[in-house]
Amino acid sequence: MQRFANKTAVVTGAGRGIGQEIAKALAAEGAKVAVVSRSESSCGKAAEEINALYPGSATAYAVDVADHAAVQELAKKIGDELGTVNILVNNAGVTRDGLLMRMKEEDWDTVLDTNLKGAFNTVKGFMRVLMKAEDPRIINIASVIGLIGNAGQANYSASKAGLIGYTKAVARELSGRKVTCNAVAPGFITTDMTDELPEAVRAEVLKKIPLGDFGKTDDISAAVLFLASPAARYITGQVLAVDGGMTM
Ligand SMILES: NC(=O)c1ccc[n+]([C@@H]2O[C@H](COP(=O)([O-])OP(=O)(O)OC[C@H]3O[C@@H](n4cnc5c(N)ncnc54)[C@H](OP(=O)(O)O)[C@@H]3O)[C@@H](O)[C@H]2O)c1
Repeated sequence: MQRFANKTAVVTGAGRGIGQEIAKALAAEGAKVAVVSRSESSCGKAAEEINALYPGSATAYAVDVADHAAVQELAKKIGDELGTVNILVNNAGVTRDGLLMRMKEEDWDTVLDTNLKGAFNTVKGFMRVLMKAEDPRIINIASVIGLIGNAGQANYSASKAGLIGYTKAVARELSGRKVTCNAVAPGFITTDMTDELPEAVRAEVLKKIPLGDFGKTDDISAAVLFLASPAARYITGQVLAVDGGMTM
């Protein structure tokens, strides 16, 4: 199926993990994709891997999504180089876990600046081009932790809960221009981010997943591609949990 022929997508945090999988899946279905991540080497490698499968589909852009001015410049550059943008996926995210007693101010700021302000920065940068594009979509990658909270992740929980509120506000503000904005809330997905967790924590989480298994990156890309597709034209301001039943 080529649901995204003639569409252009920007995926942040696409250097690896969930973002790389989303970028790859969009390219597989015909999209031109801007593969955005923090480091040149990571987005460069991801774009190279995608182009090896779908030649000419991916272009790498290194930017820190927390840097407002840099993101505005990036938006202009992508507009000039790729033309229109139909789909913006705000996936870049980080964790700096720790109990509040020990959490440093910089741990709070880094997580909020990347996970929440990053999505403000990109929407500011791309909203004008999205408003003029065909089937315009914004998809924010939140987390089940933004719905239920988690001890040791006050900064991350706040950033993802904030992203969910932001999703609904953006959906309302841009609805007049037919730009939809939805969030996907992954549960526990196997990536570098979750590989860092101790085995005991992983075993505890597994007990709370009714479907009895961790998720895979393509479980998330499948949901994102649905929301990005023309079939989802009448869905906006929603949060789709993809979590094996964790938060039902
Ligand atoms: N894995 C899970 O279980 C899970 C669950 C719920 C939600 N999520 C969310 O899903 C998203 C992706 O998670 P993941 O597990 O795939 O993470 P990951 O493997 O750690 O990859 C994160 C990606 O984000 C990029 N990134 C981080 N900070 C950035 C910044 N300031 N500017 C630009 N790019 C930045 C990284 O760039 P570099 O490659 O250059 O370092 C990397 O490509 C995150 O928003 C995360 O919160 C994940």
